[in-house]
Amino acid sequence: MRFNLIVLPGDGVGPEVIAETVKVLQAIGKRYGHIFNISERLVGGAAIDAEGVAVSAETVRLCKKADAVLLGAVGGPKWDDPLAKVRPEDGLLELRKSLGLFANLRPVHVYPVLVDSTNLKPEVIRGVDFVFVRELTGGLYFGRPKKRWQTEKGRQAVDSMLYSEHEIERIVRVGFEMAKRRQKKLISVDKANVLESSRLWRQVAVEVSEDYPDVELEHMLVDACSMRIIQNPKYLDTLVTENTFGDILTDEASMLAGSMGMLPSASIAGVPQSGAKIFGLYEPIHGSAPRRAGLDMANPIATILSAAMMLRYSLALEKEASAIEKAVEDALNEGYRTYDIMSVGKRKLGTGEMGDIIAGKVGG
Ligand code: IPM
Ligand code: MG
Repeated sequence: MRFNLIVLPGDGVGPEVIAETVKVLQAIGKRYGHIFNISERLVGGAAIDAEGVAVSAETVRLCKKADAVLLGAVGGPKWDDPLAKVRPEDGLLELRKSLGLFANLRPVHVYPVLVDSTNLKPEVIRGVDFVFVRELTGGLYFGRPKKRWQTEKGRQAVDSMLYSEHEIERIVRVGFEMAKRRQKKLISVDKANVLESSRLWRQVAVEVSEDYPDVELEHMLVDACSMRIIQNPKYLDTLVTENTFGDILTDEASMLAGSMGMLPSASIAGVPQSGAKIFGLYEPIHGSAPRRAGLDMANPIATILSAAMMLRYSLALEKEASAIEKAVEDALNEGYRTYDIMSVGKRKLGTGEMGDIIAGKVGG
């Protein structure tokens, strides 16, 4: 089959991890007889420098027409001025909003061979496997008012955690659908003891749960959830939460997997159904890591696993997605490591070498 993909390498280590992922996709294409037509466009700081905007209207238009989008990372100190008119992150937010990508799936899987690469005790993290469903186009990131102003007593600023019933309903539904295919236990994370938006969230979650009698719904406060992630992560299976809570909790959760460089993500425009194609943008959860850029040090696995999610959800290529996931697991089992997941006695690889190993395994 033939697929049109837009690739947005972005900033920092983005171009390096994307290059390795494209290698892996080409290997998949060769082995399974698919053609991936890949067009590269700019996003983030790279787009600000070359096009004056964090993502151009033309790039957004091309993304809408594509089968899926693969993104590296955006941001860096060069564009970090707090008073800047345009920021690299605006490009990512604009893409999420204008492509309607309201659901962000962030699986957290602890590979057995990496239990010694984390700061936590092996008995706590062995066997951990859960997925965060993060709301991606609402809450503090997009709610209005959002501004800064001067008063007689000094400066003030506001962001608004605004949610409509409809936004909550559709993301909670994604949570239930994911939970249905997993352990049938959904945890809805909120701060209903303090926030009005969370109280609405909780109410809507209970209403949606009536359509899923076979899934058990539990409410968990966000502060308790952050504790649970460290204290007993095996308790978790499927979690659904609003945008900012999800942003923070998933960085925390990535530490269970050994490194942020291990966590993929899928931002999708609807409820995933097996065998159906759903439009999405795929990216590692890590950022642009500017200090590591150009040093061949970044771990490409998060982006490679994001491409596997792309094959699964947007291209309905389950077999090919599993082939990538198996290649990653095999490479880790054979002792290959990038510096971020390095431990004594293992073979330390650069970004390019890790990409070659995985692409080689995928190629069969
Ligand atoms: C993420 C990132 C982004 C976010 C940034 C880069 C805007 O941290 O995808 O988690 O906050 O959503
Ligand atoms: Mg984040």
